[in-house]
Amino acid sequence: MATISFARGVPAPECYAVDELADCARAAIERDGTAILSYGTGLGYTPLRERLAAGHGVDPSRILVTNGSLQGFVFLAQRLAPGRRVLVEQPTYDRPLKILAELGAEVVPLATDDEGLDPDALEQALQTGEQPAFLYVIPTFQNPSGRTLGEERRRRIVQLAAEHDLLVLEDDPYGLIRFEGEPLPSLFDLSGGSIIYSSSFSKTISPGLRVGWMVLPDGLAKELALAASSTYISPALLGEAVVEEFLRRGRFDDNVARVSGLLKARRDAMVTALARELPGVRTSRPEGGYFLWAELGEGADAGAVLRHAEEAGVTFVPGTDFGGGPDSLRLAYSFVSLDEIADGVVRLAAALPVTA
Ligand SMILES: Cc1ncc(COP(=O)(O)O)c(C=O)c1O
Repeated sequence: MATISFARGVPAPECYAVDELADCARAAIERDGTAILSYGTGLGYTPLRERLAAGHGVDPSRILVTNGSLQGFVFLAQRLAPGRRVLVEQPTYDRPLKILAELGAEVVPLATDDEGLDPDALEQALQTGEQPAFLYVIPTFQNPSGRTLGEERRRRIVQLAAEHDLLVLEDDPYGLIRFEGEPLPSLFDLSGGSIIYSSSFSKTISPGLRVGWMVLPDGLAKELALAASSTYISPALLGEAVVEEFLRRGRFDDNVARVSGLLKARRDAMVTALARELPGVRTSRPEGGYFLWAELGEGADAGAVLRHAEEAGVTFVPGTDFGGGPDSLRLAYSFVSLDEIADGVVRLAAALPVTA
């Protein structure tokens, strides 16, 4: 029996526009091969940076394109975090937690609920202790919870950041994968472009191309570009040029709509299966993105459930990996098929009574 993975936060195979991307790679090299096949600047492929800058309404000097957005996080964290406080949501994306710990940062988890980060918790953290290096927040379809920060809260957080001179990093790789509801203003836009915005083409085109970007204040953009140059001279330009060609052809919006449709069907299948098989378990109902968060209830241990679940042929990531409570778990619906979702939730339900 093959294991069904609710652990993998990657797109399902049919999300990739394989033929068109192959064509884009050929066209990109034919058009601009001598630039793409050489070294470039640490900042990334200029035509793509210019396009992103226009989209954000900023000067291209503020755009840093990296080998995936996590690489940009590493550059920023290496520059700012060592020995300092960094505020994060609880729970939050596990990789930044590990990176910050390795860099010797003091990670300060802030309370969240169904509407995302609690601004009161942020205010309290800002009133005590040393000035934090930055706040790391994933406001839309958060990894791991799938939750979205409400608009009032967005405004209040931006205001608090301005009042306390707090640097904010808004990480937004999922925001465009929306199934329903109205898009909310980004913290970046609400701040008049003064905070740091980070996003990626990993969830909208392909993670294997490794193309992410940051919009930075001028000084930091220069510093991080130097860090990028000393790390890899210039990022992998072919992936960036393939993305640029895809955008240039006007294929991006259609692709996002197509990918969102594929993922919405998976979200629906998982919500339906969970309601049927695990009616007592509290789960989030994400309006977009890749993940759903479940809480098994007081006294339950998701780590122990995982061991039984793996024996039953299904896997997930326990919430404690993200700084969440012992009863919590992250279920990724992005990678699996509709049938696998239905079967996997049945297997999960079978694993539960043993420990619950
Ligand atoms: C919140 C968040 N930020 C960043 C990343 C990393 O994306 P990239 O592939 O651009 O490095 C991920 C990937 O899962 C993510 O969930």
